[in-house]
Order: sequence, then structure tokens, then C-alpha cells
Amino acid sequence: MLRRSGTDAHAWGLHRFILAVQAGGIMARPILIDCDPGTDDAIALFLALGNPALDVRAVTVAGGNVGLHHTLRNARALVGLTGRAIPVIAGADRPLLGSFTSETRVHGENGIGGVDLPDGPPAAPGLAADAIRQALRQAGPADQPGAGLTLVGIGPATNLALALATEPALAANIAEIVLMTGAWAEGNVTPAAEFNAWSDPEALAIVLACARPITLATLHLTSQALCTPARIAALQDGPGTCRAAAAAIMATVPPTRRLAYAGHPQHDACAIAWLLAPEIFTHRDVHAVVDCTNGPGRGQTIIDRWSRLALPPNARLLDTIDPDRFFALLAESIAHLP
Ligand code: BDR
Ligand code: CA
Repeated sequence: MLRRSGTDAHAWGLHRFILAVQAGGIMARPILIDCDPGTDDAIALFLALGNPALDVRAVTVAGGNVGLHHTLRNARALVGLTGRAIPVIAGADRPLLGSFTSETRVHGENGIGGVDLPDGPPAAPGLAADAIRQALRQAGPADQPGAGLTLVGIGPATNLALALATEPALAANIAEIVLMTGAWAEGNVTPAAEFNAWSDPEALAIVLACARPITLATLHLTSQALCTPARIAALQDGPGTCRAAAAAIMATVPPTRRLAYAGHPQHDACAIAWLLAPEIFTHRDVHAVVDCTNGPGRGQTIIDRWSRLALPPNARLLDTIDPDRFFALLAESIAHLP
């Protein structure tokens, strides 16, 4: 079966791509999303579930932006709104080391800005790390045609790290890991660290060391996907329960001081957009590590953008995104949801 890339899907136009997928001529890319919804995780889930170029095999959940009881409920509710029968599985409620800290200033007490969504289907049985390993096993070795699984991590990396650390051989079945994590300049939770990296640096270190293709959407990238009042208004304008939920959730997020209050970054959906429309990004290969010390640098990602250390690259750093094409892709994909 022909596998058509996200680039082709974008160039083709989503509608023709959908018709081709429905006709059975094209295989969607299998992915698993590990998340902590989270206002921006919600938008990322809608983008992925609304676009037929992606075959979302499972959604695994960690505590992050808010506690696991909220993030799990939110993930179930968001997947439920899309009407898709995709398993949602609970994972870690705390980092590998240290204690759990939430980010309610951005995401509200319930994680989706206080927006009240109808309850979704129950969580699938089991634990996230087991589900990740099972999905990898089912996907087969990534060097075989049509096999392999792409892992998208848009929360603390705990679940992904637990899966990789407990069965390292399954890394061979990973086609790519796309992470919203880190910052090559200043952070958003400490001066040095971005929230996901800071929430579980040891887990991120395990993932960065897995020797599979890794793509990083850092703060510098996601700050370019600025969700302005005009962009929220554009999304509000149209039919669909998911569109209304997306716009309502976006509207709750306070504008970011770091970005002169012009809007807020749509962090997590950038990781999904990379898989759908790589042509709207620029990127470079880098060597990246994370600071796991207990000082002020904890959680900082040290990203060698200019190869100063002459170390072999272990990640692809997304440098720029075309924000207008990103928000167009988002609107077009969400329009395919109920
Ligand atoms: C990341 O941290 C969380 O607050 C967001 O959901 C995103 O994944 C941004 O730093
Ligand atoms: Ca997130």
C-alpha cells in the first residue's frame, strides 16, 4: 500500500487526501500521543484526530499541567467529543524523581481553562507505559516497509521514559519521536527551563538517549504559533462541537507576558503539525541534553545549535514555523470533526 507523506497530504489539499484515504489507497501514519491536557494539548488532540493523514492508535496521559485525575478526564472528554474510538490510558501521576507541580495559572484548575466538557468514554484498562510498549510491539520494526510507530510527547516525558527504560529493544520500532519540550533560550517555568522538560528532566534524558530520530518543538518554535484574539475569533466562526470547544478553550488562556501580551503560544499542536505539514517548518540537526542537576538550571535543555561541541546530532530542532499556514491547517483539520 502506498504511504503518502504529510507534505504530500498538504500539497494535495486535505479534501482530496481524505477521499484517497477513504478509498483505501493511502495508509495514514500510525502515531501514539502522550499528553497532559492542558489547553494546548486539547488543540493538539483535535488537530491530530481531525486529520486523516494520522492514524492515532492510542492517547496516553500523565499528570502535568494539572493532576492526573483532571488530565485523564480531559483526554477522555476531548476524544469523546471527536466521536473516535481511540483508547485513552492513564499513566504517571508524578515524575520519576521529585514531586509533582501543576501549571494552573495558564490552564486553570481543571486544565482546560474551566471549560466544562461532557464526560467521555471510560479509560481503557492498563497503564500508559504498558500501552506504549504494546503499541510499539504491534507496529513492528521501523526499518520494515509500512511498519513502525511515531510517538508524540506533549507533556512531561515520564510515560515515554518508563516504556523505553523497561523494554529498550522496542526502540527499534519507533519511526520518530516528536516532542514539545525544552527551550534553547530562556524558559517559561524557571529562567532556564520549559515546563515539560522541567517537570521530569530524568525522563527526558532517557528519551533523548534512545538513539532514534527525535524532533524537538521548543519554546522558541511554539512562540511563533501565536494564538491572537483575531485567530481565536476566526476559529469561533463556524459550525461543529469540536470547533466551539477548541475556540472556547483557546479563549481562556491568558496572553503571555514574555510575548508582550500579543497572544499565547499554541505549543503542543506544533508537534502534530510537523507530521502533517513539514514544509511549513525550517529545521536543523543538533545535539541536545537536559540538565538533571538540582540547581537553578534543572530542566534546562542545552541545545547546541551551532555544533560548537562537534558532537553527533541526536535531534532535529524545529527552527521556524509559518504561523498563517499552521492556523489554516488547524482550522481545516478541526472542520472535519463533529
Ligand atoms: C508545555 O507545557 C505545558 O504547559 C503545555 O501543555 C505544553 O506542553 C509548554 O511549555
Ligand atoms: Ca502539554
